[in-house]
Amino acid sequence: MSFNSFIEVEESPTLYMNTLMKDLHSAGKTIYKFGFGQSPFQPPEEVIQASAQATHRTEYTHVQGDLTLREQIAAFHKEANNIDCTPDNIFIAPGSKILIYSILSSFTQADVLVASPSWVSYRPQIELCRHHLINIETNYENRWRVTPENLREAASRKKHTASICILNYPGNPDGLAYTKSEMVALAEVMEEFNILVISDEIYSLLHFTSPPESFMTVYPNTIVTSGLSKWCGAGGWRLGIAMLGDKVSPMLKAALIGIASETYSCASAPIQSAAKVAYNSFDNRKDYLHYQTSILQEVSSFCFTELNKTAIKLYPAQGGFYLFPDFSHYEEQLSDKGITTSQSLCERLLQDTGVALLPGTAFGMNQEELVARLAFVDFTEPASGDSFSLETHAKKVKVGIEFLTSWIKQLT
Ligand SMILES: Cc1ncc(COP(=O)(O)O)c(C=O)c1O
Repeated sequence: MSFNSFIEVEESPTLYMNTLMKDLHSAGKTIYKFGFGQSPFQPPEEVIQASAQATHRTEYTHVQGDLTLREQIAAFHKEANNIDCTPDNIFIAPGSKILIYSILSSFTQADVLVASPSWVSYRPQIELCRHHLINIETNYENRWRVTPENLREAASRKKHTASICILNYPGNPDGLAYTKSEMVALAEVMEEFNILVISDEIYSLLHFTSPPESFMTVYPNTIVTSGLSKWCGAGGWRLGIAMLGDKVSPMLKAALIGIASETYSCASAPIQSAAKVAYNSFDNRKDYLHYQTSILQEVSSFCFTELNKTAIKLYPAQGGFYLFPDFSHYEEQLSDKGITTSQSLCERLLQDTGVALLPGTAFGMNQEELVARLAFVDFTEPASGDSFSLETHAKKVKVGIEFLTSWIKQLT
C-alpha cells in the first residue's frame, strides 16, 4: 500500500545550506560560512558544570517547567527587559521554536501576520497549522521593519476572528530593533485590530547596547519567547521559554498546557538544572553578556564598514548575529551574468568565492529581490584571559568579506 497524502514541508533552508556547504567543504573548497546563525560562544563554565552534575535527573518535570526555574526567569526578565510575568504564566520547553509552533497550533483558524523578511521557520509553521498567512511587506527604506502603516494594511486583509502577529527584534535576518516609541505606535494598531502578538525576543539580550524593553511592556496581549539558544550559546541544549502577558486569554494558556502535555511533555530535566544557574540573576550575567556583545559589535561593524565601501545597501546591526545586504544597486551587472534571483546570487557567490550567504527567499522575500542574510559568527572565542582580535579570532570573517567585496567590485 502506498500513501501520497503528505504535507509538503521542505527541509529548513538554513539546515539545507549547511548540508551544501559541508558537501563543498568535503570536496576541498574553503567555505566562508556566513549562512548559519549558531552562537560562537560557550555557556558560562558554571552553567556547563551544572548541566554535567544534573544528569541523574531522569524524572519528567512539571509540564510548564520547574517552578523555581520559572521564578528565576520571571525575576531575570523583569530586570533585563522590564517584563512583568508571574511564574504561573511562564512555559519552559525544548526550544522556543516548539513553543511558537504550540502557540500557533492552539488556534483552529487564524490569520497570522508576518513580515518579509523574517525568520525562516515562521512561514512553514503557519502553513503546517493551516492558518491564513498575511505577509507584511517591508523594504530597505523602512529598515525592514513592521510599521503602523504596513501593519494596518496587512490587518485590513484579515479573514478570521483570531489574528496573530509575529514580531522579532533584534531581527533575524536584519539585526534591527524597534525603539520604544515605534513599539507604542505598533501597539495601538495591534489593539485596534485585537491582535495577539508573539514577540520573538530570542536575540534581545544580545542587543549591542542594553537589552531593549519587551513588547509586552507596551502591549499585554503579547507572548514573549526567548531561551538559552542565543545569549547563552546553548542552541543544542534545547531550552526555550514563553512568557504570557496579562491580557493573553486563559483559554489559550489552557490549550498550550494541553498541547505541551500531549507532545513534548517537558524540557529536559538536567538542562532545566543548568538553566537555574544561567538564570540565577541578571546582574550576574551582565559581564558575560557584555563580553559577547562587544565582540559581536566589533565583528559586525567590520563587516558593515567593508560592505559599505561598495554600493551594497545595508544597515549596521543593533544586536544579534546578522546583517541583511541588499544588492539591488548591481541588478544590471548581475543580470548580465545571468543572476536574477537571490538564490542564483548566493549560488554563484558560493561557487566563485566560497562565501556562503542565505538567499532572501528563505526569509519570505520575492525571488527577484537581490537580498541575502549574512551571519557574522564564524569566529572563535578567545581563550580565557585573552582579548579578542579580528586578525586572530575572526580571520575567516575578514577574508570572506574581502572576497565578497572584490567579487562585487569586479561587477562594475
Ligand atoms: C528568530 C529566531 N527565533 C527562534 C529561533 C529558535 O530558537 P530555539 O533554539 O529556542 O528553538 C531562532 C533560531 O535560530 C531564531 O533565529
